Amino acid sequence: MKPYDIPFNKPCLAGNELRYIAEAIAAGHSAGDGQFTRRCHHWLEQELGVGKALLTTSCTHALEMAAILLNVRPGDEVIVPAFTFVSTVNAFVLRGATPVFVDIRPDTLNLDETLIESHITPRTRAILAVHYAGVGCEMDAIAGIAARHGLTVVEDNAHGLFGKYRGRLLGTIGALATQSFHETKNFICGEGGALIVNDAQYTERAEIIREKGTNRSRFFRGQVDKYTWVDIGSSYLPSDILAAFLLAQLECRAQIQEKRRRIWERYAECLAVWAAERGVGLPFVPAWCEQPYHMFYLVLPSLEHRQGMIEHLKRQSILSAFHYQPLHLSEMGRQFGGKSGDCPVTESVSDRLLRLPFYNDLNESAQMTVIEAVTHYRGLELDSETVSPRHSASS
Ligand SMILES: Cc1ncc(COP(=O)(O)O)c(C=O)c1O
Repeated sequence: MKPYDIPFNKPCLAGNELRYIAEAIAAGHSAGDGQFTRRCHHWLEQELGVGKALLTTSCTHALEMAAILLNVRPGDEVIVPAFTFVSTVNAFVLRGATPVFVDIRPDTLNLDETLIESHITPRTRAILAVHYAGVGCEMDAIAGIAARHGLTVVEDNAHGLFGKYRGRLLGTIGALATQSFHETKNFICGEGGALIVNDAQYTERAEIIREKGTNRSRFFRGQVDKYTWVDIGSSYLPSDILAAFLLAQLECRAQIQEKRRRIWERYAECLAVWAAERGVGLPFVPAWCEQPYHMFYLVLPSLEHRQGMIEHLKRQSILSAFHYQPLHLSEMGRQFGGKSGDCPVTESVSDRLLRLPFYNDLNESAQMTVIEAVTHYRGLELDSETVSPRHSASS
């Protein structure tokens, strides 16, 4: 298949990746927890101001660690948004939990905090707050609900590294938080993630779970004279080669975020009028949130228009993407009782959302090609444009 002229995503190098990888290999330590892993941990802990950051092989695995740390058991329930990636939920289902799907807010597409309390039962253990597109959930309200009902808040911050909610960095608010460094994220290493431990009671056990249930980390620190099997766990630590890749990315935080800010703002500026006139939704960022410019999406008026736009862009060799299918209506979700109409905002948005190409090296000319293509989509013309359908967002 011919590649698209403008792909949806392109993993971009920051500069030092190959040099650091060569150093990791030359140092003779390519397994986990070598010098680059330690440097990533230190970097994340400093930048986020958190007590413990642990690199993992993915955000999915960091979520699995969170579920183990909370001692989630069969019969327990967890509150999850219906509009999220499968891993947010699956990690807890793996421990035997029942997901309780809650609808999202129509503006930020985050868990609707006003619906949470009516879904809480005596079996509820945790609330999974997914910061969609890196825009913060209403964490004050969520933390208040959790405190009233004795629940733990876990932030799935796969999209949101360096986003802020009321001045607080996302990923530093819940007891535990998870990050993703998958190649589609702002900072990448192919596949990777991190568990952020904000409640110190989980720190020691998190190290054990990540190291196959052993106290190996304590052994390396000289705190025990041999290491042994002390708990359940798995191999959740990435190779130091991946950590080397990641460190090169993290060290370019300012440059990467600046590039992404420009891309996001250009989309927002150039599409604002076009979208407003046609009832097309654009990302909404509340005044008290700072976003990390992870993605840009359109919410088209209908499924037909979303599919029409995808085809229209494809004809111009531009790849766009949509997600997520409503989890409560998936094969697994239905086994947990999910049915049509349970989460109407999720069901509607899931049909209509379209993500536009977004990667660090998307240059202005390519981005303007995308914007031109979007604004020339036929089917959403205003009456005045049916004679002259070409429309420029800046006109
Ligand atoms: C909200 C959310 N959580 C978790 C994940 C899983 O991340 P990973 O691919 O690092 O396991 C994703 C993936 O994109 C995601 O969007």
